[in-house]
Amino acid sequence: MAKLRKDFLWGGAVAAHQLEGGWQAGGKGVSVADVMTVGANGVQRRITDGVQPGENYPNHDAIDFYHHYKEDIQLFKELGLKCFRTSIAWTRIYPNGDEDQPNEAGLQFYDDLFDELLKNGIQPVITLSHFEMPYHLVTEYGGWRNRKVIDFFVKFATTVFKRYKDKVKYWMTFNEINNQADYRGTFALFTNSGLQIKPGEDAEAVMYQAAHYECVASALAVQIGHEINPAFQIGAMIAMVPIYPASPDPRDVFKAERAMQSRYWFADVQANGRYPRWLRSYQARKFDLDITLADLDVLKAGTVDYIGFSYYMSFAVKAKANEPADFAYEEAADQVENLTVQRSEWGWQIDPVGLRYAMNWFNDRYDLALFIVENGFGAVDQLTADHQVHDDYRIAYLKAHIEQMKLAVEYDGVDLIGYTPWGFIDLVSAGTGQMDKRYGMIYVDKNDAGEGTLKRYKKDSFAWYRQVIQSNGDQL
Ligand code: BG6
Repeated sequence: MAKLRKDFLWGGAVAAHQLEGGWQAGGKGVSVADVMTVGANGVQRRITDGVQPGENYPNHDAIDFYHHYKEDIQLFKELGLKCFRTSIAWTRIYPNGDEDQPNEAGLQFYDDLFDELLKNGIQPVITLSHFEMPYHLVTEYGGWRNRKVIDFFVKFATTVFKRYKDKVKYWMTFNEINNQADYRGTFALFTNSGLQIKPGEDAEAVMYQAAHYECVASALAVQIGHEINPAFQIGAMIAMVPIYPASPDPRDVFKAERAMQSRYWFADVQANGRYPRWLRSYQARKFDLDITLADLDVLKAGTVDYIGFSYYMSFAVKAKANEPADFAYEEAADQVENLTVQRSEWGWQIDPVGLRYAMNWFNDRYDLALFIVENGFGAVDQLTADHQVHDDYRIAYLKAHIEQMKLAVEYDGVDLIGYTPWGFIDLVSAGTGQMDKRYGMIYVDKNDAGEGTLKRYKKDSFAWYRQVIQSNGDQL
């Protein structure tokens, strides 16, 4: 029976804007994350018109990793991490996104960070664009709706590929590129692609255009990266939420199929190098998109080396009584509660078997190595007077998911590169901007209002995960 690889990459995952802080340090520019206010459980973050006085922008200071990374890396080493997944903040390298020359102070920061990690036996795994594109590209160019942004991204990617070619092996292009399949809300369009829909615009058409440009940019980056260092492994990063039919009613089954197609065509394009037929048919009927023959050649030539994905939960959908012929997927409206699984305090459906299902689904469809680059349980933690956090609920969640992950490897033959649980050090939530929605094994003393000492404390899950890593997953 297959086992986890001997060099399995046990790690932890974060994103620059959610932990670094230092939002103006070293010449950094304003990113889309810097204009998003704090929300709450059930309360959306607001996107303001630039940085406004008197607002609480949690990403500005976050957990100040920018100044604490050396001490933090000592904790990561004690935890036994083999890799550390983070992103390079685009705005540290090209503060506005459209400069000719990169910002040396920003490049130096990541040189220092990567050196410190490598010195401690931890390899960096890097996402190029993780919900933090330069805000200037939104105000001046309309975000990814503009073809020019491809060139800006490719310049950024080329700069960092060259600079860190001997320090980083595993890369991903766009974090959760497929969140924007939910184009009816404002959040994913803005965080994925810097899109703000204007009155009279068709949000769906704008999303398909922007996503196309991102796929082209991703494929160009893959090709350029391989020229710079043929040993680079450059992956997609897909938010995998398996979507089940609510019942065996064939209409529910087809609804779930259409929902899966709508959320995961991004991976088809990135891994297969071409658009799936259903989408070509749908787009041709509905939109007039700028997709050139030259673009299609680029997509074919720049397929990814592996599939990185996040996994937190599954969805279930039900067909409407009067579905139109195309069965178009409406993320919020079509979902129903799955009563067979538990939910987190934020309503996320907890489904460990769904992880094994997802791994099999990816495996069958693309036959590529997989990398679980996010998984975790957001919860309110209680810090005791003697600085303990007894997070047995988090251990239970992670244990159940790792068990299923191992079954997918051992019984189903999935080729898995590694596992990096999300937010293993507490950080700012992307969805709500909260600090109190915690995923970490390391507690950071800061709350939603931005108060706290920033001190770090080990939770119970810290010792548990260390033993998981030491035993290469044998002792759960
Ligand atoms: C993923 C993102 O969506 O899930 C992360 O890649 C995010 O950036 C994580 O933080 C958890 O979501 P949230 O909204 O709980 O922070």
